[in-house]
Amino acid sequence: MTVKDVPTQPIAGQKPGTSGLRKKVEVFQSPHYIENFVQAVFDAVPELRGGTLVVGGDGRFFNDVAIQRILKIAAANGVAKAVVGQNGLLSTPAASAVIRDLGATGGLILSASHNPGGPEGDFGIKYNISNGGPAPERITDAIYARTRTIDRYRMLSSPDVDLARIGTLELGDMAVEIIDPVSTYRTLMAELFDFEAIRALFRSGFTMRFDAMHAVTGPYAKAILEDELGAPAGTVVNAVPKPDFGGHHPDPNLVHAKDLFDLLMREDGPDFGAASDGDGDRNLIIGKGQFVTPSDSLAILAANAHLAPGYAAGIKGVARSMPTSQAADRVAEALGVGAYETPTGWKFFGNLLDAGMATLCGEESAGTGSDHVREKDGLWAVLLWLNVLAVKRQSVREIVHDHWQRFGRNYYSRHDYEEVDAERAQTLMEGLRARLATLPGLEVGPRRIAKADDFAYQDPVDGSVAEHQGLRVLFQDGARIVFRLSGTGTVGATLRVYIERFEPDPAQQHLETQAALADLIDAANHLAGIHEHTGKAQPDVIT
Ligand code: G1P
Ligand code: ZN
Repeated sequence: MTVKDVPTQPIAGQKPGTSGLRKKVEVFQSPHYIENFVQAVFDAVPELRGGTLVVGGDGRFFNDVAIQRILKIAAANGVAKAVVGQNGLLSTPAASAVIRDLGATGGLILSASHNPGGPEGDFGIKYNISNGGPAPERITDAIYARTRTIDRYRMLSSPDVDLARIGTLELGDMAVEIIDPVSTYRTLMAELFDFEAIRALFRSGFTMRFDAMHAVTGPYAKAILEDELGAPAGTVVNAVPKPDFGGHHPDPNLVHAKDLFDLLMREDGPDFGAASDGDGDRNLIIGKGQFVTPSDSLAILAANAHLAPGYAAGIKGVARSMPTSQAADRVAEALGVGAYETPTGWKFFGNLLDAGMATLCGEESAGTGSDHVREKDGLWAVLLWLNVLAVKRQSVREIVHDHWQRFGRNYYSRHDYEEVDAERAQTLMEGLRARLATLPGLEVGPRRIAKADDFAYQDPVDGSVAEHQGLRVLFQDGARIVFRLSGTGTVGATLRVYIERFEPDPAQQHLETQAALADLIDAANHLAGIHEHTGKAQPDVIT
């Protein structure tokens, strides 16, 4: 086995976004593409030399090819040990757990999250640091800068590693340990949750369906829900990870998990339904006859987390992304703990968790998590729900309705206008931004605007500032409209409009959401001129 320096040259556009470098598979297949990026990581993070690197992905098409190349480049760059999930699998939260558990230097996670897979689909790679969380901008900037000057990568010429066999082998001077992808994660979950209580819940006849969407959580959910917690075989469906996710879109929402939703709306359906995405970090929670919005789920879990052993001492604070509904703030207030409002994107939670300021965090986009790892965690959210259900022995519907009665209900919806011409979307945002100062005091229907701003966040831990994180129109009665452009779309621009109002009166808490928000939806359109600017009379997706 020899180490070769392969001459190369920069490839444009290798700038990692919030979720790493994410492109079409065919882009990743082009000559030197992944090699350049991986070498740039080793050049930008010198402590990987002599360190431990965790490697794994969601099993999508190209996962195995990418891992073989990463291992050969890692060996040639002096990594002491690579720890790889069997068959190349590690869910994103499990990768975070393994990095933390081993005290590894970092990890390379292969995934394009909830985007479709297969040869025509998407692929992605991201670097996580030793706390188990995504690399901060200072590191991703350094990686990107290196991709722009790179002139060689180092690679070991060697046969491929057998990723199927658990155990340790040598690749040049580097040790490669192939691990069971589930084991560290399962141990962590067993520490956090009352598995005995959840077993008793299943023994009592409680029924559930978990849809793994042919993505990475299949093996985790089967091992934990069925083998460990005694849920009947068949509770986990679509449990075998496939390179193309069975041709489906592994996004656990009411569009792509419609079968699950329909089943839960039936009288004879199971008591509880849940799903996760391609790489296992998002979650969908549905009770019999009761969908739980991610914003409500965060608030309800915050109010009840103390029922699980891992959080029995209480939580230190709750953090939510700015567009996420304000429901969790009310819980934090009642508990007397901190409430934090961060820009969109998981990376903003890391400092708050590391500093012990927040324990739970979440986003309206179906991401919920805690300080047990530094990624959002789909199956963790499902297990916390199960733990709460096992203790309370109430239905999801009762728990949700009791929560609204106690804390009030935040009616909430997100309207997405997709594939909008990028320039027109900018014009809409700039137009509204320019008028923000004139809005306070304006009467809109039954409400008066109290404040309007362009959300900026100063990190309370490191003082860094993130600006232009969304335009907020705040009404005197607590209602709110937020406008922002997606940072993850691939075609044109996606305008996201988040609409919310607070309803303290239990008699008024059972309206249909869009109807309950109708006047604010109208107001959003008038304030920003959505229809004129986008040319669309209706949003493309309503969640
Ligand atoms: C979306 C979600 C955001 C999430 C991100 C990565 O980003 O809205 O909450 O953190 O995906 O999963 P957006 O497209 O809105 O920029
Ligand atoms: Zn994901």
